[in-house]
Amino acid sequence: MALFSSSTRQVPQSAAVPRHVAVIMDGNGRWAKKRFLPRVAGHVKGVELVREMVRACLERGIQYLTLFAFSSENWRRPQDEVSLLMQLFVKALEQEVEKLDRNGVRLRVVGDLTRFEPRLQELIRQAEARTASNTRLDLTIAANYGGRWDIMQAVEGMLAAQPEKRNGWQEGDLEPHLAMSFAPEPDLFIRTGGEERISNFLLWQLAYTELYFTPTLWPDFDTAEFDKAISSFQQRERRFGRTSEQLVEKPNA
Ligand code: IPE
Ligand code: IPE
Ligand code: MG
Repeated sequence: MALFSSSTRQVPQSAAVPRHVAVIMDGNGRWAKKRFLPRVAGHVKGVELVREMVRACLERGIQYLTLFAFSSENWRRPQDEVSLLMQLFVKALEQEVEKLDRNGVRLRVVGDLTRFEPRLQELIRQAEARTASNTRLDLTIAANYGGRWDIMQAVEGMLAAQPEKRNGWQEGDLEPHLAMSFAPEPDLFIRTGGEERISNFLLWQLAYTELYFTPTLWPDFDTAEFDKAISSFQQRERRFGRTSEQLVEKPNA
């Protein structure tokens, strides 16, 4: 497994496009409500926007796109909505994987998958296997994912890897066990739908990510909106604890 140096420590080389974009796709329900439609209509439209977002990332040379599709807390929603979301997930996997594969997209699903129906688990496994050698874009769907769950399972993995070790643990001991250890930390985080919170998304990995919040609802978050987020990112100075002057002289000193 390729481990990237953490962007928490290294100032990324170029600010042209973010290497890794992580998104909380929020606002589907409100989008539907505004149109007097059932909430699920918003989720259906939301899937279309995922397609658009993947295309935009391919065109812009973004290497990693991570989308929060279902949080470990979303089971608290009405049973009907949860089961419709699961059906949509199955349908999307059945219909989209071939095209993703053709376009060089590698798909992964992170989260506690054991709670999903066997059929869904199997589709996920197949989709991951089928796209495993693709390298143009790493698309990761976070499903039944929670940042605290991720840290806890990583701690367990870390302890199991060196059972005799008692102390002196480093961040680098934990990182290989996190669900997204294959990717660099996100450069840009986007949350649509107006809420300005992390909602238990990638807690560890977002330590130094640039955050972008927009009131635009996810089903309205088109390519032009995405470009606004990217240009906001491009105007930021990522200092990782250093001073502005240091960055000009020696970026990674
Ligand atoms: C996000 O949209 C999609 C999921 C959480 C699955 P919401 O369903 O949360 O939409 P709002 O926030 O109610 O508008
Ligand atoms: C966060 O959205 C999770 C996803 C987009 C999948 P929510 O709409 O569930 O978040 P909260 O509960 O309002 O913070
Ligand atoms: Mg919401």
